[in-house]
Amino acid sequence: MAKSPLRSVPLIVGNWKTNPATLQEALKFVKSLDKKMASLKIKAAKKAYYLAVPDIFIPHINDVAKYGYIGSQNISGSSLGQETGEVVPSQLLSAGASFAIIGHSEVRARGETPDERAHKVALSLQAKLMTILCVGEHVRDNQGNYLSELEDDVKHSLSLVQRNLFENLVIAYEPVWAIGGKTAATPREAFEVVIALRRALASLAGIEYAKKVHILYGGTVNEENARDFIEEGGVDGLLIGRASQDVGTFFTIIDSCTAKKAGK
Ligand code: PGA
Repeated sequence: MAKSPLRSVPLIVGNWKTNPATLQEALKFVKSLDKKMASLKIKAAKKAYYLAVPDIFIPHINDVAKYGYIGSQNISGSSLGQETGEVVPSQLLSAGASFAIIGHSEVRARGETPDERAHKVALSLQAKLMTILCVGEHVRDNQGNYLSELEDDVKHSLSLVQRNLFENLVIAYEPVWAIGGKTAATPREAFEVVIALRRALASLAGIEYAKKVHILYGGTVNEENARDFIEEGGVDGLLIGRASQDVGTFFTIIDSCTAKKAGK
């Protein structure tokens, strides 16, 4: 079984969704990204980015990516056996995946239920995949009710997880209104949610376990705002869609967010 990845901070995760169109393009991207990464001289951890790619690309990209961990954008909650079209965690791991995203809003929109999500999170963590659970409100109300909805979401999604598995858990705060749009949340807005999420984690597992969980922000992250989330938003990293699909932009974000750590 693959070892769970070192969680570098900041944890910069690209979500390629259904991009790029071909394996050849994907390999070209990663080789070009790694060439740029080599110039960074990151001391603390050799692997400094994470890429969630289409499952079929995982083994190929994992073979060439020197500076990144490769993962999946979803897992199946099915058990091993007679389930047409599904991919289960042991298959992802053995193909080179180090992590999985679970509960992305686009997967939720296709009908994933809260119970299915809770089951998937438990399966993924038990399989030793670093697991990135996504949560985010559709709209923000002035009374702050969305904060308790997010806390309830986290509590339900983690209801089947033993707390000794929390150290391989990451939560991505992704406001649905900010995904794929023009406007990101502000670092201050993200900060408020980070506090609410930590509260939910602490009530589930106690403060010591809650502290082990990394929290990311995602939703219209770009070259201009990335570092502000790390510095002012209280997050441990970023989940990046569109801006991870252009090699120059993704590299600029990794560079700007890791520069301090690398002592530059
Ligand atoms: P975006 O997507 O960065 O393009 O807004 C984020 C996501 O879907 O994870």
